[in-house]
Amino acid sequence: MRLDYLTIFPDYLAPLDLSLPGKAAEGGLIDVRVHDLRTWTHDRHRTVDDTPYGGGAGMVMRPEPFGEAFDALGVGAPDETVVFPTPSGEPLTQRLAAELAGRERLVFVCGRYEGIDQRVVDHARDRTDVREISLGDYVLNGGEVAALAITEAVVRLLPGFLGNAESLAEESHEGGLLEAPAYTKPPVWDGRAVPDVLRSGDHAAIAAWRREEAVRRTVERRPDLLPPSVLDDGTPIVRAVPADAGEIFTLQRACWVQEALVNDPAEVPALHEELPDVQAWLERWDTYVVRRAGRLVGAVRARLEGTAWDIGRIMVAPDLQGAGLGRALLEHVERVAPAEATSYVLFTGAGSVRNQRIYGKAGYRLRRDVEPPPGAVVLTKRRR
Ligand code: ADE
Repeated sequence: MRLDYLTIFPDYLAPLDLSLPGKAAEGGLIDVRVHDLRTWTHDRHRTVDDTPYGGGAGMVMRPEPFGEAFDALGVGAPDETVVFPTPSGEPLTQRLAAELAGRERLVFVCGRYEGIDQRVVDHARDRTDVREISLGDYVLNGGEVAALAITEAVVRLLPGFLGNAESLAEESHEGGLLEAPAYTKPPVWDGRAVPDVLRSGDHAAIAAWRREEAVRRTVERRPDLLPPSVLDDGTPIVRAVPADAGEIFTLQRACWVQEALVNDPAEVPALHEELPDVQAWLERWDTYVVRRAGRLVGAVRARLEGTAWDIGRIMVAPDLQGAGLGRALLEHVERVAPAEATSYVLFTGAGSVRNQRIYGKAGYRLRRDVEPPPGAVVLTKRRR
């Protein structure tokens, strides 16, 4: 595989000569070429940036040096991909790394400052395959570190690189789950013993333990990686995103009007919230939603309070109530509770007899020994 890097900081890419890509280069598996973008400037100061049209902070990288570099490097073959690392790109995943590992050539275009003139990306796209890729939802100072990370993720997947294909198949993110914890000798260290099952020699039990640990870790750390729960008709229950706030706010208003009719309206907090309140709690609660034909028709939220999984705001669009959607949301949110949760807790209006009946059927018990908020009752259920 041929790897080209366009950058104004070639030294930043020195790690390519080391470690993993270094070994791959020695073995002839990859052919690495780092290019100083300033090679394709023509003024005394070797300028690569300028102020942004439309105003704003920072500098934008001018298009001409990139265009000349693409010509000089012969960018435009059908089996190559030009990679633009950028925080506004698609996320780097194991699947994307595997896809890139199948290309003949990757050309990394590393931007600095506030970004690269958009026409460079459009121009590259006219010539060849282009991917804009993000390492994650944070901003680095430039694309070089991201280019190194993408390179490492790709190169280690090249056939002939890692001798042991099994170690690739078993690791994190292959199979969609995080990896189970690993242990080596000694059997006891710092008063901490290696789990017995790993020393049992029982391969089936070991595989089952690893699978269980992988699921537990994934639920706890990366619930977004889990296959979504689905309703009977296949509709997925998915994690809410900030852009759902407006619809959740609207659904909440609709749902809690009913609550206000059977409780004291002054004691129905959900009814008094405005959009910014919903936006704020969305950041602090694990929230899940269901859509039908694009419309947000159900939601639920939960968070850990000590060892209790505090479940709330179970809402179902008034026209769809009574069809089991609330029950499905409750079961889902119970399932994604973190490992520390030993019980579930719910609050509902003291006058909300229907809700209390539904929760009772789901195994929740009224707790008269726990002080509820004004106008509410507390229900709990032990986690199994
Ligand atoms: N350049 C700056 N921030 C980045 C990020 N998060 N991912 C990829 N490239 C970047």
